[in-house]
Amino acid sequence: MKITILGIESSCDDTSAAVIRDGALLSNVIASQAVHSDWGGVIPELASRAHSQNIVPVIDSALKKAGVTSDDIDAVAFTRGPGLLGSLLVGVSFAKGFSIAKNVPLIEVNHLQGHILSHFVELPDKTIEKPNFPFLCLLVSGGHTQIVLVRDYFDMEIVGSTIDDAAGEAFDKCAKVMGLPYPGGPLIDKLSKEGNPKKFKFAKPNIAGFDFSFSGLKTSFLYFLRDEIADNPNFIEENKADLAASLQATIVDILVSKVVKAAKEYDIEEIAIAGGVSANSGLREAIAAECSKRGWRAHIPEFFLTTDNAAMIAITGYFKYLREDFSSLDIAPIARSAE
Ligand code: KG4
Ligand code: ZN
Repeated sequence: MKITILGIESSCDDTSAAVIRDGALLSNVIASQAVHSDWGGVIPELASRAHSQNIVPVIDSALKKAGVTSDDIDAVAFTRGPGLLGSLLVGVSFAKGFSIAKNVPLIEVNHLQGHILSHFVELPDKTIEKPNFPFLCLLVSGGHTQIVLVRDYFDMEIVGSTIDDAAGEAFDKCAKVMGLPYPGGPLIDKLSKEGNPKKFKFAKPNIAGFDFSFSGLKTSFLYFLRDEIADNPNFIEENKADLAASLQATIVDILVSKVVKAAKEYDIEEIAIAGGVSANSGLREAIAAECSKRGWRAHIPEFFLTTDNAAMIAITGYFKYLREDFSSLDIAPIARSAE
């Protein structure tokens, strides 16, 4: 019998639903919330309201696109956390209602595990070379920056993480200083393509082990711009592309050098990247180049699997279903994970 899983993701500002059958993706629908760009960041209250409005149409559309009905679903998987509590509650409540109405198991998914396991989603139009265990995953998003040693689907160890800002936050905060709207990461990436990455130098942190720090970079970027603007008020406008390219090169270099260091230490020759920042063209190229130089395997995700999506929740739900790892109906969301 084939196993069909409905996945729901609502941890931040994207409402998403996906259907996966025996590990293969049938549909993945995402409603992004434009409402936050005017505010320079995600406003939790607006996010949960938008999730409430989006969730039914998004799930309906995911089922229709997959060519299934709610009767075909064997289990419903949802993001339990980490994320914004009000946003998570919308997905959790819907999943519970669905589980009761359809009498199918409820499966909680850790959002970060979902990002990592997105590498195991089978796509209809493309053969993906899945990672072999053990591999290292550089998980870089708006809320997290971690190097995870992945020994098996659910045997993961965080070997390094940020001690302050996440990499996505560094992109977004520096972009904000340059006057770009939220989220600035993709805009920095776009501007970088026209710029010189060696034009400006920004401070790189000196942190022991496999941990990261990005708050110093943000401050040095801010002070650098403040000093330059004092001399030339049009400095940002005149140097937009070079600033973006130099900033991106600095962040990418910090990330790549740490994950390579960790791979050497743990004697691992497969590196995967995941999370919103893994959409970054500079990071994708640098990881691919480092791995090819060393004869290692690089796993670069499809773009739609980098930022928040429910396909990653459904695939994690599928692996949990196979282990009969189900949740009870009194489960509550967790805003912050202890991991
Ligand atoms: O994984 P994600 O969608 O949400 C979280 O779980 O946080 O990641 C969102 C983050 C944002 O900080 C956004 O600016 C960043 O990913 N991002 C990028 C790019 N696309 C998304 N950063 C740099 N370059 C990109 N192309
Ligand atoms: Zn995420």
